[in-house]
Amino acid sequence: MAESITITDNRTGELLEIPIVNGGVDAAEWRKLLPGIWFHDPGLATTSGAESAITELDGENGILRYRGYPIEALAEQSTFLEVAYLLVYGELPTQDQLDRWVHEITHHTFLHEKFRARMHDAYHYDAHPMGLLTSGVAGLSTFYPEAKDIEDPDNRMRQIVRLIAKMPTLAASAHRHAVGQSFVFPDNTLDYSSNFLKMMFEVGNPYEVHPAFKKAMDILLILHADHEQNCSTTAARVVGSSHADPYSSVAAACAALYGPRHGGANEAVLNMLDSIGSLDNVDAFVESVKNGDGRLMGFGHRVYKNYDPRAAIIKDAAHEVFQVTGKNPRLDIALKLEEVALSDDYFISRKLYPNVDFYSGLIYQSMGFPVEMFTVLFAIGRTPGWLAHWNEMLEQNSRIARPRQLYVGSPVRDYVAINQR
Ligand code: CMC
Repeated sequence: MAESITITDNRTGELLEIPIVNGGVDAAEWRKLLPGIWFHDPGLATTSGAESAITELDGENGILRYRGYPIEALAEQSTFLEVAYLLVYGELPTQDQLDRWVHEITHHTFLHEKFRARMHDAYHYDAHPMGLLTSGVAGLSTFYPEAKDIEDPDNRMRQIVRLIAKMPTLAASAHRHAVGQSFVFPDNTLDYSSNFLKMMFEVGNPYEVHPAFKKAMDILLILHADHEQNCSTTAARVVGSSHADPYSSVAAACAALYGPRHGGANEAVLNMLDSIGSLDNVDAFVESVKNGDGRLMGFGHRVYKNYDPRAAIIKDAAHEVFQVTGKNPRLDIALKLEEVALSDDYFISRKLYPNVDFYSGLIYQSMGFPVEMFTVLFAIGRTPGWLAHWNEMLEQNSRIARPRQLYVGSPVRDYVAINQR
């Protein structure tokens, strides 16, 4: 028997049967039964906006899987581009498919030279790289006007390749602008992560990518590659649902990611650790959070009510990087903070655990990334996820996003002339 729920309309005494489809209440049926009665769900915390086959997230049990593969296995055994292929196409690639995918991405890393050379001149030297990245991604749409043809699956795939390929180049150029260094062009002989690290850090002498850094970079990108219907993915989907081109949709996602409650949290964690300053101040800091004075950044999650599995993987990866760089001095404060918070009833009762951003910033900083680049790194990693969702949504022929509202403003009133107000 098909699953359903029955509710009583107390205004009329009528019994209404509403089907449950794939574990969700079918809103289309609800609409037919109760026209004009909207779900009031700010933050969309109990609303499913999509049927998606990309990422499975079980927040109660701390489970994250891309296309059915556990995040732990992918982080340990895969590469970022292989995971990107998995997210976009739905299956792990054969060797031939992977070779072609890597070749395609490697050969689309360059930016139009006019764009690259002139774009940053419009900005102050200290412009935040997320601002540069967001506007840079939006600007790319003007160089690829054919991207507007979102009905053609091959054309969509060409833009997906371009975007995944060009994000590190855009990101590195934003950084080089901020620190006043000349641009380093992409190196087609290198893998994705090594090429990015070289574009970021080569100055004067040839840059040798340390294998531990390359591995850590790949792991961090994999961990950030998708997270189902988060704020930035939702932004990409909402904008994409109007049939805007993918560059505009991904620029919207970048803008959403920028905020400190989302991708900006890793930057906020480092600033928080700096403001705490020493182990002696941890207890007082936790007390101030409990008293409502700010939040413990890098803690809590809308979906995870258990340890974020990505945080556990990052914590391990951090040690590998610290073996090369020496321990990040903020690590001890972070560990103490975690210990204090995890034994405190305020955090236990609200199921607040470390999330992906709690430790990622420490690794990035030890690898030499400035704090302002942390969210940019998140954006590079999340790009295949945004695009996989954008593509999936278009394949499903979905409708334009257009929520309803509960109007709580003034009823109709007469216009009052300005000299009588
Ligand atoms: N520190 C202290 N208290 C917190 C925190 C925190 N980090 N997060 C939630 N709470 C409290 C909150 O004050 C509320 O308490 P009360 O019930 O007494 O009012 C309760 O926990 C529930 O909070 P909420 O705001 O309803 O939770 P939410 O699901 O709307 O917010 C969140 C989720 C991630 C925005 C939030 O936990 C937060 O702001 N965390 C810090 C920022 C952060 O680390 N963000 C990165 C998220 S992971 C990366 C990503 O996916 O972007």
